[in-house]
Amino acid sequence: MKIHILTLFPELLEQIFSYSIIKRARDKELFSINCHQIRDYANDRHRSVDDYPYGGGGGMVMTPPPIFDAHSNVTRQLPGDRKIRTIYCTPKGNTFTQKMAVELACEEALIFLCGHYEGVDQRVIDSLVTDEISIGDYVLTGGELPAAVMIDAIVRLIPGVLKDEQSYMDESHYNDLLEYPHYTRPPEYRGMKVPHTLLSGNHEHIRQWRRWESIRETWQKRPDLMAKAELSPKELQWLEK
Ligand code: ADE
Repeated sequence: MKIHILTLFPELLEQIFSYSIIKRARDKELFSINCHQIRDYANDRHRSVDDYPYGGGGGMVMTPPPIFDAHSNVTRQLPGDRKIRTIYCTPKGNTFTQKMAVELACEEALIFLCGHYEGVDQRVIDSLVTDEISIGDYVLTGGELPAAVMIDAIVRLIPGVLKDEQSYMDESHYNDLLEYPHYTRPPEYRGMKVPHTLLSGNHEHIRQWRRWESIRETWQKRPDLMAKAELSPKELQWLEK
C-alpha cells in the first residue's frame, strides 16, 4: 500500500512513523508513507496556504490552489485511473472504526489530507475528498494526529506487519467484542493469582475461558457493543443467567 499525506507538518508525521513496528514494516517495504508539504505548492512570494474566510468571522481557511496541486502531483505518480481514496481528517466526518480500518487496509493507495486553522475551502472537499473521517467527538488543532491514528490502525492490518496475525483476530473490536485479559509471569504476585485455566495447558479450556472473558469484559465495559456481537445460543443463555 502506498500512503501519501498532504500536510503543513511533514516532519511531525515522519517522526511518528519512525519507531517500532511501523518503522520495521516500512523498512521491509510492506507499505510506504510519503509526507508532502502543502506549502511547497504555494506559488506566491510568502508561500501562503491560508486566507481570510469570505463572509467574515474568525480564523483562516486553507486555500484551494496548493492543495489541488499537491493532490494532483501525488495522483499523477500513482498507476491506474481509479479514483484514489482521499481522506480528509475532520471532526465533521464519520467516526473512525475498526471496520473502516479493515476496509481501508484493502486499498492499494490512500491519500490523507490534514487541515489546519478553520479547515480547508469547501471546494477542496467537493472535488478531491472521497471520505471525511473524524477520530472522535472532540476538536484537535489539526488533522495530523488523526491521520497518524488512522494510519497506525490501518497498516497494522497489512499482512506481515504484525508478527502473529492471530493477534488482531483476538483483539478488541474484532467481532465487536473487547479482548480478554492477559497475564504473564510470575504466576502469583502480591497475592494475586493468574487464573488457573491459563496455567492448565488445556487449549480448548483456555479458548473457552478467553471467549467468555471477552464477552464479560464487553458486557461490563461497553454494553453498547453487545447488540452487534455475534453470540452463540449457548453464550446468550449464559448471559441470561
Ligand atoms: N481535526 C480536528 N479535530 C479532528 C477530529 N476529531 N478528527 C479528525 N480530524 C480532526
